[in-house]
Amino acid sequence: MRRKLAAGNWKMNGTGASLAEIEALAEAHPTPRSEVLICPPATLIAQMAWEAKGGPVMVGGQDCHAKASGAHTGDIAAGMLKDAGASHVILGHSERRADHGETDADVRAKSEAAIGAGLIAVICVGETEAQRDEGDTLKVIGTQLAGSVPDAATAANTVIAYEPVWAIGTGRTPTLDQIAEVHDFIRAELAKRFADADGIRLLYGGSVKPSNAAEIFATSNVDGALVGGASLKAADFGAIIAALDAA
Ligand code: 13P
Repeated sequence: MRRKLAAGNWKMNGTGASLAEIEALAEAHPTPRSEVLICPPATLIAQMAWEAKGGPVMVGGQDCHAKASGAHTGDIAAGMLKDAGASHVILGHSERRADHGETDADVRAKSEAAIGAGLIAVICVGETEAQRDEGDTLKVIGTQLAGSVPDAATAANTVIAYEPVWAIGTGRTPTLDQIAEVHDFIRAELAKRFADADGIRLLYGGSVKPSNAAEIFATSNVDGALVGGASLKAADFGAIIAALDAA
């Protein structure tokens, strides 16, 4: 059985005052059936991890460098995230791929570093609207998986997030059939490479909110969500956790 995972990606949002949201979340959901992960900006990881210790909320990073240390101004190594109290790191988010030109090879190298440092890599894939309109969705996802997911991936150290670029922050979501098609495809692709592919969690991301969470969580091969905007408020993210617990 794959343990469900509700993951929040705060992106470039949040200051010290936002830590109150985690407190509220942990109070409202002290013993969720699902795993709960929040990936705040790097500035909040250490303090959030400290405050979340012993509670239901795990803390993750949003990116890491592929190298363990060195002359890379502004970057953060996987081992540093681990040292700060992170358990996971999001890698290859479409905003990193678009804003920083990250390639599949970059994402694979970062994922290897993350796994090597003892973090769980949450590797993101997803097509643009133009790619979907061209009928290239599965081809694009297949290429991203082949290039981004390292050979060292296992069910214990890797989570895959399917995030259609056109669904991120837009309020638009694919149909449930479209989500199922991609998630079933990802499962089948992973099975070609990994003996324990059946245990790798697959998250859907892109405009997940309390009102659509339950139907998405009832969809084939959806083991949870990677949530942006709706993860910023404890009430909204709590409702998504409750929907996942009930799925
Ligand atoms: P939204 O939930 O705001 O659409 O963002 C999704 C996302 O990019 C999570 O990584």
